[in-house]
Amino acid sequence: MKKLSSSLLVLPFLVLAVIYLLVSPDDFGIVASRATRCNDDTPVTSTPSTTNATETSADFRLLLGVVTRAELYERRALLRLAYALQPAPARAVIDVRFVVCRITREEDAVLVALEIIAHGDIIVLNCTENMDDGKTHSYFSGVPKLFAGAPYDYVGKTDDDSYYRLGALADTLRDKPRRDLYHGFLAPCHTDPGTQFMSGMGYIVSWDVAAWIAATDELKNDVTGPEDEVFGRWLRSSGKGMNRYGEQTRMYDYLDGEMRDGANCFRHALVSDTVVVHKLKDRLKWARTLSFFNATQGLTTSMLYHVDM
Ligand SMILES: *[C@@H]1O[C@H](CO)[C@@H](O)[C@H](O)[C@H]1NC(C)=O
Ligand SMILES: *[C@@H]1O[C@H](CO)[C@@H](O)[C@H](O)[C@H]1NC(C)=O
Ligand SMILES: *[C@@H]1O[C@H](CO)[C@@H](O)[C@H](O)[C@H]1NC(C)=O
Repeated sequence: MKKLSSSLLVLPFLVLAVIYLLVSPDDFGIVASRATRCNDDTPVTSTPSTTNATETSADFRLLLGVVTRAELYERRALLRLAYALQPAPARAVIDVRFVVCRITREEDAVLVALEIIAHGDIIVLNCTENMDDGKTHSYFSGVPKLFAGAPYDYVGKTDDDSYYRLGALADTLRDKPRRDLYHGFLAPCHTDPGTQFMSGMGYIVSWDVAAWIAATDELKNDVTGPEDEVFGRWLRSSGKGMNRYGEQTRMYDYLDGEMRDGANCFRHALVSDTVVVHKLKDRLKWARTLSFFNATQGLTTSMLYHVDM
């Protein structure tokens, strides 16, 4: 059995927290928020079961939002498994949460509610599903209000076709500033650093930057375009996120020998010191990636199954 020590690992089993949080798309403020949990003394953000010692001795706490859509059940199930079976990051709390906009279909209202009851890892923003029209703004401006009672050190955003290796991520962040930070993969490569932004595969800012986004009303009128570029523009134009850290070569798009693409500055074969692999668009790419990172190593021998081909 894997050691059930991280908040991530125990989350699916022990968290009965239900977070149903709604952020208005108009003012991006909280219009209504409801938090029901079995123990009302438990802060919404913490996993009640996490060993106290782990939390208090953590070097930092990070909220990592996986931006996805309500109906993508299979992807969410895969991501949950993938993150739950990773080795726990050392001395860091990384809460992985799925971020979706307002639920509009009858089946999703019920099925997502069930997931929230079972896993407590979904945040529903009061926005309309969109790719490049403000969802990132809804998220980063909503989080500081939603978690005002227990702020994180960092807030990150990633896509549902990205796979962060949380231990490696924690190690890159541990000795970084807790303020004015902007971490990710600087894109496009080979361009003027002054115009680069962190690729949408995954980026992280310190809490003060997220709080600034929430407090800066003008930004909600500047949300059109590729969300990662827009985000970079906000920070650049206001001199925010000056502690920029790019994890080039450790953050990249997936590539294997069966693809027609070649390696380039943002795409290459899997490497062991990976922080993020991106463009995991189908089950086979996920399977090869998880296998490379030894995710199946925990499988014990049994007469009940034989899964090798
Ligand atoms: C969500 O936003 C819409 C549009 O602004 C608003 O009419 C509605 O009341 C909000 N819903 C909730 C539950 O806050
Ligand atoms: C957490 O740690 C504090 C201080 O060490 C202690 O007072 C408290 O009882 C602990 N809580 C739990 C749930 O273990
Ligand atoms: C996976 O496990 C093998 C065998 O223990 C090891 O050699 C390899 O480095 C591991 N791969 C990664 C990416 O950690």
